[in-house]
Amino acid sequence: MGLWTERVVPRIANRFLDTRQVRAVRERVCAGLAGDVLEIGFGSGLNVPHYPPAVRGVAAVEPSELGWRLAGPRVTASEVPVVRSGLDGQSLPFESGSFDAALSTFTLCTIPDATQALAEVRRVLRPGGALHFVEHGRAPEERVRRWQARLNPVNRRIAGGCHLDRPIDELLTGAGFVLERLDNFYAKGDPKPFGYLYEGVARR
Ligand SMILES: C[S@@+](CC[C@H](N)C(=O)[O-])C[C@H]1O[C@@H](n2cnc3c(N)ncnc32)[C@H](O)[C@@H]1O
Repeated sequence: MGLWTERVVPRIANRFLDTRQVRAVRERVCAGLAGDVLEIGFGSGLNVPHYPPAVRGVAAVEPSELGWRLAGPRVTASEVPVVRSGLDGQSLPFESGSFDAALSTFTLCTIPDATQALAEVRRVLRPGGALHFVEHGRAPEERVRRWQARLNPVNRRIAGGCHLDRPIDELLTGAGFVLERLDNFYAKGDPKPFGYLYEGVARR
């Protein structure tokens, strides 16, 4: 991890992924989570205030030390116990079938091998367990996709490895998930190449 990614990107994410609009999305995505929950790419814990009371505990997987530090006050204030339990979504240190649900928000863009991470999430979910997600990714219009391809190299450098154009629905089904709900829309106010969202629930 370079210094920029280590020291600056987590602060930017902590600020810009905490708008009123994004908080409303987080509330929807976290609704229905229950039992033992895995969150990959936990970041600065911006989902913590949205965990429903039915969540027994959260195993947070996050490589960034600064992200975890920024999460401190949210974790401390949380009624749901949160334990940092791993550093890499691509290789999860848990038994197969050990979680009731999983959560991933704005993370599959950044994990280097998203296919491997999804295979791991599916492995550690119990049969019938659900992955709740919101991710940005590949846009439907050719014109926007061309911009995503053009902007990708610079975006990856300044945004901690974030890809703009991953086909989130295809990655999920390719990993063996069944899409139970999928809503696609552009985030209001975001430039289109950065703001095409995939929000929903995928089931093992
Ligand atoms: C754009 S941030 C989103 C953070 C958080 N999920 C949120 O919604 O605010 C992407 C996160 O993915 C994390 N990440 C990067 N590589 C990862 C990996 N291999 N496994 C798990 N998380 C990773 C980053 O450290 C960062 O916290």
